[in-house]
Amino acid sequence: MAGDSILVFGATGPAGISLLRELLYRKLPALAYCRNPSKIPEDLTSNSLLEVVKGDMSDRKAISGAIAKSRAIISLLGPSSPRQPKNTEFADYYRTIVPLMKEHRVGRILALGTTAMYRPDDQSSVSRAVMSTLIKVVASGAYHNILAIQDYFEHLDESSIEWTVFRVGNLLSRGLLINSARLDKLAIFLYL
Ligand SMILES: NC(=O)c1ccc[n+]([C@@H]2O[C@H](COP(=O)([O-])OP(=O)(O)OC[C@H]3O[C@@H](n4cnc5c(N)ncnc54)[C@H](OP(=O)(O)O)[C@@H]3O)[C@@H](O)[C@H]2O)c1
Repeated sequence: MAGDSILVFGATGPAGISLLRELLYRKLPALAYCRNPSKIPEDLTSNSLLEVVKGDMSDRKAISGAIAKSRAIISLLGPSSPRQPKNTEFADYYRTIVPLMKEHRVGRILALGTTAMYRPDDQSSVSRAVMSTLIKVVASGAYHNILAIQDYFEHLDESSIEWTVFRVGNLLSRGLLINSARLDKLAIFLYL
């Protein structure tokens, strides 16, 4: 294990800020690696348990430095826009992060996925199937990226990394966001 902090990627969206708030409430040292630190509210940045590091996801050296201070990673990275190009940008971030975890002996990562990711033991759900199809049609780049994350982790051949991809549904409204984020947090803290 490299350091004491829980490293959060994607910390500056509403779910990320909720997560940081929860980590600090639980007195867990946290490190937010983000490209827009000013999005993190002052009541969080003033907490001595939180370190904020500015950087983007192409800066391997800065990401390495952040991972070196961490004991586990929670990533809420995902496409923010329906206009996301049909590429593997977000899976590629894990292609940077995971080898650095190995290098720094950080063995635990929880990464955001969505209900577009199917598993053979999933129960059938009409609303989920409709939502998934809709996203595939109206936000095909985001859909493609999410499936690329699933593909990356399911084919990861690295026994030193314990990974969980947790799948979220709709985080759209403020009330839903809080409720969904709480559910995610429950899952996250069960795994930490
Ligand atoms: N809203 C929904 O209904 C919904 C549903 C399913 C899944 N999700 C996923 O849930 C996650 C959290 O939701 P949210 O509403 O809190 O997210 P959000 O407002 O879209 O924020 C996403 C976070 O990821 C960061 N990010 C996105 N693209 C990045 C890139 N290319 N490089 C570096 N950082 C990047 C953002 O940084 P910046 O602040 O710098 O942009 C932000 O911290 C998102 O990944 C989203 O894809 C959302």
